[in-house]
Amino acid sequence: MKKKTRIIEKKVLKNYLTHSPSKLGIENISFRKKYFKSRERLFFDCLKLPKKMFYKTDLLDFGCGTGEHDVCYAKWGANLTLIDMNSVSTSQVKKYFKFFKLNKNLKKIITNSIFKFKSKKKFDIVISDGVLHHTEDPKRGFDIMLSHLKPGGYCILEVAFDTSHFQRSLHRFILDYLTNGDLKKIEIYANKLFFETINRAHRFGGRSKKQIIYDFYTNPKHKGINLSDLLSWFKKHNLKHYSSYPSIEPEGFINNLNAETFAESLNKNKLISLFQSMHFIVASQDYSKNFSNYLSEAKKTSSSWKTFLKKTKLDDYEFKNKVNLDLTTKLFNQFTKNSLNLLQKRNNHFEMKIKKFNEEFLQLIKALKTKNLGLIRNKILKFSYLFKGYNGVPSNYIVGYKEK
Ligand SMILES: C[S@@+](CC[C@H](N)C(=O)[O-])C[C@H]1O[C@@H](n2cnc3c(N)ncnc32)[C@H](O)[C@@H]1O
Repeated sequence: MKKKTRIIEKKVLKNYLTHSPSKLGIENISFRKKYFKSRERLFFDCLKLPKKMFYKTDLLDFGCGTGEHDVCYAKWGANLTLIDMNSVSTSQVKKYFKFFKLNKNLKKIITNSIFKFKSKKKFDIVISDGVLHHTEDPKRGFDIMLSHLKPGGYCILEVAFDTSHFQRSLHRFILDYLTNGDLKKIEIYANKLFFETINRAHRFGGRSKKQIIYDFYTNPKHKGINLSDLLSWFKKHNLKHYSSYPSIEPEGFINNLNAETFAESLNKNKLISLFQSMHFIVASQDYSKNFSNYLSEAKKTSSSWKTFLKKTKLDDYEFKNKVNLDLTTKLFNQFTKNSLNLLQKRNNHFEMKIKKFNEEFLQLIKALKTKNLGLIRNKILKFSYLFKGYNGVPSNYIVGYKEK
């Protein structure tokens, strides 16, 4: 292991020993129910990995933390090999497995660096959730993990993309600029400037505010990974994009059934994912809220399409109709006009968001120059997009299938 990797690892561990980044209260039944449900939704619905796929499989979790996720995988029937460098976390894992009577599924638990992981065993599924971006050398970590994946197996990753986590990196940049890396001050300033983000993560993720601050802000390492680079790592290991959430597939990806699949296109040109990456930078609210901005145009477009088909009978064309070319033209023009309005409204909205985001970024830099905390805080409070809602995408999951 390289010296810098070792140094960072020690610093990250020291930070996590103060406040665990992953411990959740799954001993509590009502929390547990919700938590397991959300994990099921992520894996079964969003990532299209059915429960059955985990049954009796050998699964390796690289950086398992306190093991809440592993309890789910064990409940779905997986046999687990777990590794984490934090002994407090691995002790917690053992407690959970005893508590949930899942010891038979826990094949091995190792307290060590992922960079020192060695095993003759190959796994059906390898998972690393929220770990690689907290290391100095994510690619090396990925290489080690992938060298233990069987052909025909799946790699499930959660990493911070440099786009998705841009706003969080900017938080760290601001905190460092204002505090010169003083950890005590970082905690105070983070609570003052980024309380909206912290409260939101606390509300939705179930972690305490301290845990969030120690994971996001005092953590010595938070490396944004470039999606194109990650896709090259995939290619090197013969991994095909299987699924992702949020999806990296651009809207409107349509190919002939005999032409390339999305994964094949992506393998040839990684930049296809750039459109989604642009959304990842500025993401702030649920899609349904964005959609409500152009719902009336969507309704008009949908209804003019139906009218066009009905009046021209093109929805179910049978012969011996009185074809009316003028009416057909008029109705198709109406539909096109409505479609263009809809697209324009949607594109304008996204374009406006990017422009506004840029304006707010410039205002932020100006405020930072004053080093006046009150002024910076007031400025941030007035923003509409920057540091609002999601603050980019909090978690990107991407799954690869290793071809046989
Ligand atoms: C944010 S937590 C995520 C834990 C767990 N995967 C989860 O999703 O709940 C990051 C974990 O990575 C572990 N970690 C970070 N760098 C590591 C390394 N080099 N070797 C082993 N574990 C590491 C930390 O100890 C910590 O438990």
